[in-house]
Amino acid sequence: MNDVTELVEVTYGLDRQTVPQPMWRRRLRQAIHFFSYHLILKRRRTRVTRAAGFRLMIRPTVFHPRWFITSQFFASFIGRLDLNGKRVADIGTGSGILALAAIRAGALHVTAVDINPSAALTAAENARTNGHGDRFVAVCSNLLSALAPVAVFDVIISSPPSFPGEPRDIADRAWHAGPNYRDVAPLFDQARERLAPGGRVYFLVSSDSDLDLFSALIVRARFQARAVAERSIVIESLIIYELEAL
Ligand SMILES: C[S@@+](CC[C@H](N)C(=O)[O-])C[C@H]1O[C@@H](n2cnc3c(N)ncnc32)[C@H](O)[C@@H]1O
Repeated sequence: MNDVTELVEVTYGLDRQTVPQPMWRRRLRQAIHFFSYHLILKRRRTRVTRAAGFRLMIRPTVFHPRWFITSQFFASFIGRLDLNGKRVADIGTGSGILALAAIRAGALHVTAVDINPSAALTAAENARTNGHGDRFVAVCSNLLSALAPVAVFDVIISSPPSFPGEPRDIADRAWHAGPNYRDVAPLFDQARERLAPGGRVYFLVSSDSDLDLFSALIVRARFQARAVAERSIVIESLIIYELEAL
């Protein structure tokens, strides 16, 4: 893909700041959310799709990995990691696409969590039908709160909801993270507690997310951040950061 840039800068927070959103951008974002919510997130039927080389069943309310570009971008990045023998957690797994990409990249075992019970169920079914059920467990959990705070993961991956605001319902929790990112703010502290020595966190944000807030949360959790991949999609950029414990 020629619109993907590999990056190598090291910073202590994120290497960029929140971009003020003019009114026209806020209106455009609202319009995109309106159509995404009504046509994709809130759909009533189970769909079957192919994404990142997997055949995936997508139950109602579960984030659709083909219509939203973040999933395949992140899955393709994970495909370039060497995860041989690694214990991986996927926070906010949705269809399980990133967890499956981690298993394909060699992961010994993946624990996939989602706040949406339909997503946890969908991810488990997709792991089984793609032949990876033996290295996979799905848990319905608010971030990692259902898992003991012990350092058992070598790699933690997450593509959290990108935008602040009260979610309308469980489907909308894939898009809206609550006022001031309330629902995902503990992610970095929780990841730090559960990361084995030498472990890494990979997470995806939009350039339109509140990057100042994410920076503060990352610094508070005593991580250093490195932007490792970026893809521009006209109105915003998708950025993947690698976090390493300080
Ligand atoms: C942007 S979607 C990403 C889904 C999937 N990882 C992918 O890349 O296709 C964000 C996911 O995070 C889940 N989520 C939101 N808040 C959460 C929380 N507090 N704990 C666990 N999962 C959460 C949503 O239900 C949704 O499935």
